[in-house]
Amino acid sequence: MKLCMIGTGYVGLVSGVCFADLGNDVVCVDKDVNKINLLKKGKIPIYEPGLSELVLKNYKNKRLTFSTDLKKSIYTSDVIFICVGTPTKKSGSSADLSQIYNVASEIKSSVNSFKIIVTKSTVPVTTGDEIEKILSKKNKKKNFSVVSNPEFLREGEAIRDFTYPDRIIVGSNDIRSNRVLKNLYAPLISKGAQYVHTERRAAELIKYASNAFLATKITFINEIANLCEKIGINVEDISIGMGLDKRIGSRFLRAGPAYGGSCFPKDTKAITSTADKFKTNLSVIKSVIKSNENRSSLLLNRVYEILNKKIKNKKITFLGVTFKANTDDMRDSSSLIMIPSLSKKGAIIKYFDPTGYKKEFSRVKNVSNVNTIKESLEGSDLVIVHTEWNDFKSINFKNFIKGKKFIIYDMRNIYSPKKIRNQGFKYYSVGR
Ligand code: UDX
Repeated sequence: MKLCMIGTGYVGLVSGVCFADLGNDVVCVDKDVNKINLLKKGKIPIYEPGLSELVLKNYKNKRLTFSTDLKKSIYTSDVIFICVGTPTKKSGSSADLSQIYNVASEIKSSVNSFKIIVTKSTVPVTTGDEIEKILSKKNKKKNFSVVSNPEFLREGEAIRDFTYPDRIIVGSNDIRSNRVLKNLYAPLISKGAQYVHTERRAAELIKYASNAFLATKITFINEIANLCEKIGINVEDISIGMGLDKRIGSRFLRAGPAYGGSCFPKDTKAITSTADKFKTNLSVIKSVIKSNENRSSLLLNRVYEILNKKIKNKKITFLGVTFKANTDDMRDSSSLIMIPSLSKKGAIIKYFDPTGYKKEFSRVKNVSNVNTIKESLEGSDLVIVHTEWNDFKSINFKNFIKGKKFIIYDMRNIYSPKKIRNQGFKYYSVGR
């Protein structure tokens, strides 16, 4: 099939190259000329394990092409995927759909034969109806179909999540588009993926409800971790004990710092804003948003306690600053709250992250990026494990001691408390 992916970010580029790898002819379109030129040179603008190899392979066999010419790309394609960003509006919680509607009006004047327009971007319920209205201004209803096909790709695991999805959700209100999409996903269905056809609005809501539920699950265990700290028991035992119940499941039940990323914060806000529009109060998700927003200051209070409220001139190391491991993404990472706050209190901060320097800290006083774990630990008073990179999991801290022993605050519970304490370190973690 001939596919056009509009937008070459995490969603458009990953989905596009994976569709090409399934044997489709895919053109990835972006209005950012530099981005497209980089892609044509095999330079991938995002950090996603395995992506550059897959892009090069499919670009070489000509199944994957890149273009800035949207009209021509739509003319030559059967299925058009909208994969542009829907960030939270600067003011308030609802999603900014300006990019979606701009693309929809560009598509409006490029429909030269029957087209299936698919929103893969995460869009609020009824967005498909609005896109239909825009297209109908210039095209007869029988010349196009608007479909919702949300993605469930995790950063750092995106290719695996595309190739082995738990389910494929397709929301369409006509038989023809459903048949075409089912055919497009046939190679994944034959490997066991569940294909679920719903009404379009239902598919739009499934995406938000799924992310909001995962965010709720994480916030739930984070609050249980707070209780465990007070009782003096290990939250990891609670996660194991709960997770073995098949109705609960063990994944997304790991306590840590506030959740971040480009999706959970944005999608939890957007679904509550959609519900408010429909005069329905999603009180549970609203409290998840609040609880997560408070979490960074809660963990910062723990840091103040650990350092006996003396932060000024204390040397603090951050191991990892990205919102999670296996990504270079800093969006809504809890380090963006914690590091500036500690800097304001006079701490001297060094950070090491496997993905390197972060411009987000360029204007924060007394914060420096170092290139090795060793450098980051030298002279430190407190070492904070912020991101659960594999690089940190087998550090032998004893080898890095010169003079005073630093304290360790493991925000991801990646170490065994007993082992670290037996090495003579003061060790703190989350919910333990
Ligand atoms: C998420 C959804 O998982 C994915 O399906 C959707 O398509 C996009 O949003 P992503 O944001 O890439 O994916 O990251 P994810 O792995 O879900 O983690 C989100 C946040 O939750 C991170 O800050 C992570 O550290 C945190 N998390 C995750 C926990 O704190 N505990 C867990 O057990 C799992």
